[in-house]
Amino acid sequence: MRIKNKNVLITAGPTREYIDPVRYISNGSSGKMGYALANEAKKRRADVILISGPTNIPQPKNIKFINVVSALEMFKEVKKYFKKCDIFISCAAVCDYRPENFAAKKIKKTGRAISLKLVPNPDILLLLSKSLSRRVAKPPIIVGFALETDNLVRNALLKLKKKNLEMIVANKPEAMESDETSGALITPKGIKHFSKISKKRLAGIILDEISALQ
Ligand code: CTP
Repeated sequence: MRIKNKNVLITAGPTREYIDPVRYISNGSSGKMGYALANEAKKRRADVILISGPTNIPQPKNIKFINVVSALEMFKEVKKYFKKCDIFISCAAVCDYRPENFAAKKIKKTGRAISLKLVPNPDILLLLSKSLSRRVAKPPIIVGFALETDNLVRNALLKLKKKNLEMIVANKPEAMESDETSGALITPKGIKHFSKISKKRLAGIILDEISALQ
């Protein structure tokens, strides 16, 4: 599928799940990979929508940009744009859990142990890919990422199948804050390994692979 003039929806960065007004649960995602994809797709003259959790990266120019904080907010925004997209790239490191309760006032220390109950967040990618079977229009190409500490390819393949994706990009947590990444790009047709390449370069490779589909 050619990228030019296509509606490309990308999620990027971490989400933040607030416990009280000053504390939150999150992860070390920098957002660099998602922003690189957005810039590369824009360069190829796609209509890009970037939905991003909190990052330190300047907002890309000439791209529709939506800032979100939590997984629930990200889910709400993605649902708004998913129906119209031709390509959905789910690059965000969405927190799988959020605190069950948000304390409106800062939690004061008591010196005693406390516990925090977490409840599951929606799996945005899974729910959207599942929603497709009920749609009549042409389904979009869906690309996921997989962050794995071990059994990189095996675990990513399971996610590819479970989430019904055209492609999954597997990488290790070391890549999260770095400008470089190593891992494997997996489609049902085969696996391409990449080692210590820039995220900009990987963005180009991912878009080349998408262009080669169908
Ligand atoms: N993802 C999502 N919503 C979530 C969790 C993950 O949309 N609540 C998406 C990510 O953007 C990524 C893919 O699902 O494209 C896989 O994310 P990953 O964190 O590697 O795996 P999980 O599905 O969360 O599974 P696990 O944490 O058990 O490895």
